[in-house]
Amino acid sequence: MSADIIHPGHLNIISEACKYGRVIVGVLTDAAIASYKRLPYLNYEQRALVVQNLKGVSEVIPQTTLDYVPNLEKLKPDYVVHGDDWKEGVQKETRQRVIDVLAKWGGKVIDVPYTKGISSTQLNEKLKEIGTTPDIRLKRLKRLISAKKIVRICESHCGLTGLIIEHTNVEVNGIKREFDGMWSSSLTDSVSKGKPDIEAVDLTTRLHDLNDTLECTTKPVIFDGDTGGKIEHFVFTVRTLERLGISAVIIEDKIGLKKNSLFGTDAVQTQDSIEGFCNKIRAGKHAQITDDFMIIARIESFIAGKDLADAMERALAYIEAGADGIMIHSKDKSGADIKEFCTALRKVNSSVPIVVVPTTYNHIAEEELAEWGVNVVIYANHMLRSAYPAMVDTAKSILAHGRSYEANSLCMPVKEILELIPGTK
Ligand code: SPV
Ligand code: MG
Repeated sequence: MSADIIHPGHLNIISEACKYGRVIVGVLTDAAIASYKRLPYLNYEQRALVVQNLKGVSEVIPQTTLDYVPNLEKLKPDYVVHGDDWKEGVQKETRQRVIDVLAKWGGKVIDVPYTKGISSTQLNEKLKEIGTTPDIRLKRLKRLISAKKIVRICESHCGLTGLIIEHTNVEVNGIKREFDGMWSSSLTDSVSKGKPDIEAVDLTTRLHDLNDTLECTTKPVIFDGDTGGKIEHFVFTVRTLERLGISAVIIEDKIGLKKNSLFGTDAVQTQDSIEGFCNKIRAGKHAQITDDFMIIARIESFIAGKDLADAMERALAYIEAGADGIMIHSKDKSGADIKEFCTALRKVNSSVPIVVVPTTYNHIAEEELAEWGVNVVIYANHMLRSAYPAMVDTAKSILAHGRSYEANSLCMPVKEILELIPGTK
C-alpha cells in the first residue's frame, strides 16, 4: 500500500490478512508512487512508521517498484492479500504476475472486497481544498527531484493558471500525468502586466501577485529571480521567498540591464564574472534558513554566444560555490548544445539537479531529456502564450459581428466559470 491517507478500507485489508497468518506490509516508496501518480503527502519513513503501528501488522518492508515479484521472491509468502480493485484496470497485469510467481511455491492471492463509500482519491480531493503550509510546500521540490525521473513544471502568472496546473491531469497508458509544480516566470509576470521582461516589474509586485497562486494551490513553486539583483538585495529576496514557502529561486549569471534570453545575441547580454556570480550564490546560501530551499544557478553562456567549455567552467564553479542545481539555457532550436552540456556535466557530477527550459528545442520530449540527465523541465511561458491568441480571436469575433454570439464557441459556458472556483456556492 501507499498508506498516505489511511482509511477504514486499509484497516479492513489488514484485519482480513490477520486471519491467514503473520502480516507483512509492503509500503511503496516515494519513487514507486511517483512513477504512476502524485507524490504522497508523507514521505516513506513517515508512512512506514504509521503502518508499522497499525494493529495486526508485524513488519513493514519497502516496496521499491510497482512490480511485486522481487519482494515476493524474497519472502515467499503463503498468501498475498490485496483490495479486489486490482482485478480491473492497469493493476490487472500486476495481479496476474503475482498469481504466477506465488504458484512456484503454492502461494495464493486473497482479494478483499473494496470498502464502499471511502477512497483515497476522494480524501485527496478534500485535502487539496484544505490547502498546504509554506513549510510542506517548500520541501516538496527536493522530494520530487529525488523521487522522480523528471520533474515537470509549468509557468503560472495568476490564480487561474495556478488552478490549471494544480488540477489538470491526463491518463497515458494507465498512468496519471500531471504537472509537479509551478514556474513563476519573469517573462509572463511582466507581459501579463503589459511590461517588458527587463526587471521593470519589481519583486514586491511580483510576490504580491504570486500570492494569488499560493492561495489556491498546493504544488511547489520555482521562482524566476532574474539576475538576483545586487548581492546586498539578493539575501533579502532569499529570506522572503523562503518565508513564503517557495522551493527554489533560479538566478541567471547576467549583469547590467537584463533582457529576455530568447532574444539571444540580438540583444546585448552581458555575463557576470565567475567570481562575481559565485559571490552572489554564496551570499544567498548563507542567508537561507532551512536546508530545503534551493538556489539554482542559471548559465547563460550559450545565450551569450559562448561555448561548452565556458558553460562547464561556470557550472563547476557555481556548484563549488554552493548552487543546489544548474539551469542551462539556450535558444538553439536543435537542443544539441543542451545535450552536450548535460552529457559533459553528468560525466563529472552524477547528482546535481539539472534544469532545462525547452522553449525553442521543444521537439525533444521529457523522456529523452531525462536520458540526457535532466531532472527538471520547465514549460516557461505556455499558459500565457496560449491564452493571448485565444483572447485576441474572441475580441476580433465580437468586433467583426457587432455582437458576442459568434464567440460562444470560443468561450466556456458561464455556468462552468461560476463552478470553476471551489467555494462559489
Ligand atoms: C522566463 O520565463 O522568464 C525565463 C525563461 O526566464 S526565458 O524566457 O526562456 O528566458
Ligand atoms: Mg525570466
